[in-house]
Amino acid sequence: MNMQATPQLPFYQATARECDLFETAYENGLPLLLKGPTGCGKTRFVEHMAAKLGKPLYTVACHDDLSAADLIGRYLLKGGETVWVDGPLTRAVREGGICYLDEVVEARKDVTVVLHPLTDTRRTLMIDRTGEELVAPKGFMLVASYNPGYQNVLKRLKPSTRQRFLSVSFDFPTPEIEIAVVSQESGLEAGRVAPLVRLAGHIRALSGMDLEEGVSTRLLIYAATLMAGGMGVDQALEAAIIEPLSDEPDVGQALRDLISTIYG
Ligand SMILES: Nc1ncnc2c1ncn2[C@@H]1O[C@H](COP(=O)(O)OP(=O)(O)O)[C@@H](O)[C@H]1O
Ligand SMILES: [Mg+2]
Repeated sequence: MNMQATPQLPFYQATARECDLFETAYENGLPLLLKGPTGCGKTRFVEHMAAKLGKPLYTVACHDDLSAADLIGRYLLKGGETVWVDGPLTRAVREGGICYLDEVVEARKDVTVVLHPLTDTRRTLMIDRTGEELVAPKGFMLVASYNPGYQNVLKRLKPSTRQRFLSVSFDFPTPEIEIAVVSQESGLEAGRVAPLVRLAGHIRALSGMDLEEGVSTRLLIYAATLMAGGMGVDQALEAAIIEPLSDEPDVGQALRDLISTIYG
């Protein structure tokens, strides 16, 4: 496995054939949807692929107040004058770059209306306010992510939207790959990362019962970073694993018990 990160290319360890799929989608001008739990590498993957393809990347973290105008742009008052300012989606379309809508289901409904003409053969962005109709150039690509784990009906992606995207599922990597990723990111030697990854396997098997979601690779990296900096295992796991995963004292105790069977 080649684990060398270069300054220009954010480190990303592929877990399947997702890099090929991204490149093929890009070459064919097709939008791509990344599905998977939080902290499993979706954002890093997009950053890596954008750098690899040499494309500007516009990332938008979607939230429940995010509107179409936030993506497209708006008129702003500047020194007594009203000027049009492009939003990140418009900029990506104009430049033929990559626009990444992180957690796209969180955004307001008017956002999907904007995405539809962009994600079919029209590849068009309508800017109602200015009357402009931009046809996306060849290099433009739309990427979105969403977490199917949240069982909120209102937070599901409608079939009319999802059927416009190629899709790929992300999941936590195999232990071998996850050890390599956590070690690379934290600087903690692989031998000390291995029990952390084993712990993660047990915690993920519990998720859905007492835990809403299993522990993410991101949290493992936090724990390993604390340990690499000299913090003791107990304190590091308390701050990076137990507290972030739950507010329930019972669940916290169950996690502590699990930890003592592994580190015992
Ligand atoms: N396959 C991977 N290769 C490299 N780093 C990874 C990988 N998976 C997870 N990471 C690490 O985990 C962190 C969280 O991943 P991120 O891409 O932000 O997750 P997501 O967007 O899925 O919530 C990243 O900052 C990176 O350090
Ligand atoms: Mg992300």
